[in-house]
Amino acid sequence: MSLVNNFVIMGNHVFFWICLSGVLLSISEVSPERTKDKMYESIDGAAACFRRLNGTHQFGCSSSRSGSVGAIHLIDDDDDLLWLLNKGDAPPYMAVLGPDMFKRDVLLTLRDSGKVSGVLLAYDTAADLPQHYSPDDTCPNRYSGQKKCVDNAPWNPEGMGLLQIDWGFPMFYIKSNSNDSSGNLRKIRECHQRYNSADTQAGRTLCAIEMNSYMSAAVSSEVCVRRNGVKNNFHPVHVCDALIDRNVWVSLPALSQNRPDTAYENRTVIMVSARMDSTSMFDQVVPGATSPVTGIVALLATAHALSQVFPQDDTQQSSTVLFTLLHGESHDYIGSQRLLWDMLHGQFPHPSNADIDDPVHLLYPNHLKLFVELSQLSNRQQHLTFYPASSANYIRAHAPVMDFMGNMTEFGHNYGITFTKSTTDTLPPASLQTFLVHDNKLPGVVIADHEAGFTNRYYNSIFDDASTLNYTYYNGSVPPEDSLASFIANFSTVLAQSLFYMATKTKNTTASVDATLVDELLHCYLESMNCSIFNAATFQSRFEDKPPTFYIGVNAYPSVMAQLTGQTLAYLTGQVTNKTKEQCVADPQSQVYQYLWMSGKNENGNSTGVCVKTTMNYSIAESPAFSIEGYDWASGQYSTWTESTWNEFRVRMFLKPSYRHEVVTLCIGIAVMFFSFVIVFFINTRSHVLFGDVLVAASC
Ligand SMILES: *[C@@H]1O[C@H](CO)[C@@H](O)[C@H](O)[C@H]1NC(C)=O
Ligand SMILES: *[C@@H]1O[C@H](CO)[C@@H](O)[C@H](O)[C@H]1NC(C)=O
Ligand SMILES: *[C@@H]1O[C@H](CO)[C@@H](O)[C@H](O)[C@H]1NC(C)=O
Ligand SMILES: *[C@@H]1O[C@H](CO)[C@@H](O)[C@H](O)[C@H]1NC(C)=O
Ligand SMILES: *[C@@H]1O[C@H](CO)[C@@H](O)[C@H](O)[C@H]1NC(C)=O
Ligand SMILES: *[C@@H]1O[C@H](CO)[C@@H](O)[C@H](O)[C@H]1NC(C)=O
Ligand SMILES: *[C@@H]1O[C@H](CO)[C@@H](O)[C@H](O)[C@H]1NC(C)=O
Ligand SMILES: *[C@@H]1O[C@H](CO)[C@@H](O)[C@H](O)[C@H]1NC(C)=O
Ligand SMILES: *[C@@H]1O[C@H](CO)[C@@H](O)[C@H](O)[C@H]1NC(C)=O
Ligand SMILES: *[C@@H]1O[C@H](CO)[C@@H](O)[C@H](O)[C@H]1NC(C)=O
Ligand SMILES: *[C@@H]1O[C@H](CO)[C@@H](O)[C@H](O)[C@H]1NC(C)=O
Ligand SMILES: *[C@@H]1O[C@H](CO)[C@@H](O)[C@H](O)[C@H]1NC(C)=O
Repeated sequence: MSLVNNFVIMGNHVFFWICLSGVLLSISEVSPERTKDKMYESIDGAAACFRRLNGTHQFGCSSSRSGSVGAIHLIDDDDDLLWLLNKGDAPPYMAVLGPDMFKRDVLLTLRDSGKVSGVLLAYDTAADLPQHYSPDDTCPNRYSGQKKCVDNAPWNPEGMGLLQIDWGFPMFYIKSNSNDSSGNLRKIRECHQRYNSADTQAGRTLCAIEMNSYMSAAVSSEVCVRRNGVKNNFHPVHVCDALIDRNVWVSLPALSQNRPDTAYENRTVIMVSARMDSTSMFDQVVPGATSPVTGIVALLATAHALSQVFPQDDTQQSSTVLFTLLHGESHDYIGSQRLLWDMLHGQFPHPSNADIDDPVHLLYPNHLKLFVELSQLSNRQQHLTFYPASSANYIRAHAPVMDFMGNMTEFGHNYGITFTKSTTDTLPPASLQTFLVHDNKLPGVVIADHEAGFTNRYYNSIFDDASTLNYTYYNGSVPPEDSLASFIANFSTVLAQSLFYMATKTKNTTASVDATLVDELLHCYLESMNCSIFNAATFQSRFEDKPPTFYIGVNAYPSVMAQLTGQTLAYLTGQVTNKTKEQCVADPQSQVYQYLWMSGKNENGNSTGVCVKTTMNYSIAESPAFSIEGYDWASGQYSTWTESTWNEFRVRMFLKPSYRHEVVTLCIGIAVMFFSFVIVFFINTRSHVLFGDVLVAASC
């Protein structure tokens, strides 16, 4: 009886509460938004600074595990900075800086003040860019290669060394137009103006930002690689990834063992190389325009022109020309270190199989006759500098370089390009340095658009893009003479003719590069991957209408760049065969040719596809340090870069109540809770009196 009674009473209670909350809800206008969404305003499209590690140190940024929070403070000038340091009385702050204030000394001051919990770099696209901005070192790759860069005449004079600092707080980057009323920058500025403009902030409700970018790896690559293997609660721990990607290469002619032995005597291979990567402080924002795109495009165009005229058979004795695009060079020369290591270990291009008809011929470093490196090439004044690897004292190494550059100069006359020998004895940061560490008598030369310091003011940064390179796309019409495309086309023509002369010992000036081809390539790499050449070099894969990003990948996430560049190189140098799609597969009897199915030239938007025969292939770009058992991580012999793993990147803005406000809210909450206990207790004990039998009749 009492049980039934209780049940009825409970039923009555539920009824009562449903009625009450129904009334309350209808008052507060029901909306599907969750309370959390009303409190937080998400800042979309923010790129995060993340943590990178070398063998002995950690660099970059990380938030605290649950996210770092701070009141917004806009730093537009030195006064704002001083205010934060001296008067800011509600720390921690989130400093919001434009590119002008995002400088080494400002950031270090903020870090050392202890009052800052994070930094947001906000680039207002309606304002001008700073004159220079490079987060890399003044001596990029200072601890690898020949280690000859000196601080009083550095290669990257604008370098701020931000990439070589462990910041200890999170940083994000947003790009937004302050004129855009719904843009991130406008939202932040408005919130700041409304809540944070008072001079005394303690005790006020403030507009704040929360940043989440917690990094799992810490200390050094050595520590995190060791931790990676450990099993924690039966889940394998994975805290960091080695920087790994692929190098791309193509040889003219094929590296076949069926060529006469004389083809592979010592000093018979000319290697033409460029780097394929850049870097920056922020994830996914690595536009790499001047470095490496100008070099990549010059190399692709040269390989294309040379392949059109190069003897494909051995009736005409020729040297081999090996074109390579190396990955990870911005991180202590990962790609070139691995390529050299593979050569020394009889693994370049890949292990040879003597049981088939056409096995590959291995290359060793002593095969190299000349190493030509294409560095940054943005100079429209038709003037380039070349850096021979060794001084005139090493005749054996110097003479081939001077012969080659003599030809470059001679052919250059026809195209209005002049070459000047550098006055310094050192090389700019270059893959060639890796090879010289092994053999300092290797004939080699680096060709670049600068003498002494880089002319590129935005080296390895988020701003090294099409607009700071001042690139204009001519979309199929002939680029004018003073355009970048025309300059690179003429340079590539000169290079192809010189390589032809060096490789065959005969002059042939038919090799030539079309400036519209170069323009299209530049457009693909700088403006949109959805371009005619990338689409022709792949099969039915339409790319996004945006430029690629040039950061090296990790094992599980290789970069798209290497694949796309490899396909493009194959498309530009390979031979179209008449095989069908089904026949377009590797020949088991040949180790030297690949057959790739691609759309091919596609003028009317209608392609059935073509099968291209090519010597292009990839080789792994993984630092040898990760392949050597018991490697000494502090030795500095090989690159040791890894990057941390993370769970999420998130930036949110919200109103952060003052401490007093929070305490009051808490007290009220506790009071209300006790009060409601009392009421419920009261109602419960008197329910039969209060509700009785009338309730059902009187219900809403
Ligand atoms: C890691 O970087 C730091 C600072 O740039 C440098 O001092 C150290 O030698 C580097 N360690 C290795 C193994 O390259
Ligand atoms: C932004 O607005 C300012 C004036 O409010 C105007 O001068 C400027 O041209 C605008 N810039 C852009 C990129 O819209
Ligand atoms: C080629 O170079 C290797 C290594 O430098 C040397 O041992 C060999 O004798 C050379 N061969 C010839 C034919 O010069
Ligand atoms: C140059 O090479 C092309 C293509 O191989 C050939 O047709 C032409 O006859 C050559 N010219 C000379 C002068 O050797
Ligand atoms: C051009 O190269 C050839 C072959 O390498 C060489 O014999 C000749 O001297 C070079 N020409 C100049 C002007 O240096
Ligand atoms: C570049 O080459 C083209 C022909 O390919 C020529 O018309 C143009 O004048 C050259 N540029 C210069 C600066 O000589
Ligand atoms: C950019 O290029 C245009 C034409 O190509 C030229 O008029 C302008 O001066 C260049 N600007 C810079 C900063 O080089
Ligand atoms: C290039 O020209 C074509 C045809 O005129 C046009 O459809 C296309 O939008 C142009 N592309 C760019 C990027 O201007
Ligand atoms: C790529 O370009 C083609 C033609 O220029 C266009 O039809 C297509 O929508 C573009 N795709 C993307 C993803 O932008
Ligand atoms: C196509 O390939 C076959 C061999 O598969 C060959 O006999 C024929 O000559 C080729 N045709 C052309 C036009 O190249
Ligand atoms: C391409 O390289 C891979 C290893 O990187 C090798 O297994 C394969 O045989 C190569 N293919 C050709 C045709 O060179
Ligand atoms: C594409 O090819 C089909 C038949 O293969 C043809 O009917 C169509 O007209 C072609 N389209 C264009 C734009 O050439």
